[in-house]
Amino acid sequence: MSDSLVCVSDYERQAQRLLPKSVFDYYFSGADEQQTLRDNVAAFARWCIYPRVLRDVSTVDMSTTVLGQRVSMPICVAATAMQRMAHPDGETATARACLSCDTGMMLSSWATSTIEEVAEAAPGAVRWMQLYIYKDRALTQSLVRRAEKAGYKGIFVTVDTPYLGRRRDDVRNRFKLPSHLRMANFETPDLAFSSKEGYGEDSGLSVYVTQAIDATVKWDDIAWLKRMTSLPVVVKGVLTAEDAKEALKYGVDGILVSNHGARQLDGVPATIDALPEVVEAVEGKVEVFMDGGVRKGTDVLKALALGAKAVFVGRPVLWALACEGDKGVSNVLQLLCEELHLALALTGCRSLKEVNRSLLRRSELISRF
Ligand SMILES: Cc1cc2nc3c(=O)[nH]c(=O)nc-3n(C[C@H](O)[C@H](O)[C@H](O)COP(=O)(O)O)c2cc1C
Repeated sequence: MSDSLVCVSDYERQAQRLLPKSVFDYYFSGADEQQTLRDNVAAFARWCIYPRVLRDVSTVDMSTTVLGQRVSMPICVAATAMQRMAHPDGETATARACLSCDTGMMLSSWATSTIEEVAEAAPGAVRWMQLYIYKDRALTQSLVRRAEKAGYKGIFVTVDTPYLGRRRDDVRNRFKLPSHLRMANFETPDLAFSSKEGYGEDSGLSVYVTQAIDATVKWDDIAWLKRMTSLPVVVKGVLTAEDAKEALKYGVDGILVSNHGARQLDGVPATIDALPEVVEAVEGKVEVFMDGGVRKGTDVLKALALGAKAVFVGRPVLWALACEGDKGVSNVLQLLCEELHLALALTGCRSLKEVNRSLLRRSELISRF
């Protein structure tokens, strides 16, 4: 592991030095005042760990399954768009790193590498496809078909983005892709986010979403997706018990408690705080995952204790890619894994099955920020 990069925040600081400002801003930003962005991280501190001792923790088993696929750790990679802005190898580097760490990767619909390129880069890796539902339903269906054909093991359909959240730095920077890159899964310049016309005074991505993504999507469309594919379908972006119950009615195979890395609606709860009510509502009927603000092994432990089957990490992977390509991503996944291993051992847990709610108590006295 790199000497000076020993935790996720080291990678973040280093990435900020290395990346062009508009790229760092796009990766870093949350919506509006970024209250939820701060809270996604800070909220973990409001849960205290109450460890058990004297339990022979000389071996700790961290392997688990996600949608039936075995992974070596309950830490997987969330979909983040346009990874070739961080490193020339982009998503293919991330896939190689996931393969080397034996964990799973969710590929963004908005990747700068194709579904097939990522599959070829790491044929043995556990891969899932993140899906945006486009106004053009035939196009949406073709993304699913390509993912099926290329051996992806599930569809994470993002349900929190009928419009893009207002990320102020992206508006200020008139964010668009550098001219040598495109959203690689699409043919036409308009859909590939490489329009020569430009995107006016706004965040280019916000204009793109309004033009291309279907804001009419409702629960029936989840039924449409379930009928269309035999792959497991997970809804990504649920924050309430009500929507979790709705998702069960429509036969989803999993729920990802997510606020899109605080990039959509500012003022929503930190995901670690939304997780318990979703877990309770689901009553163990499907797997529940979470993402948002996971930066340390103890964060993962807390999410598992509150009922997540696994967590996903977004920005930490981008920082790692920017610093050291696939080696960086492997390092970051490995260091999170080592931190989780230590946290489990120091709480007296010998396997993930022993992690439960009794390890945590709410610590209201710790300040919010
Ligand atoms: C730069 C960036 C791009 C993202 N792109 C997508 C995307 O294309 N599709 C999607 O469903 N979520 C996307 N997300 C949200 C992530 O999948 C995930 O929910 C979030 O990053 C988790 O929070 P974290 O970054 O604090 O780990 C993106 C997040 C970031 C930071």
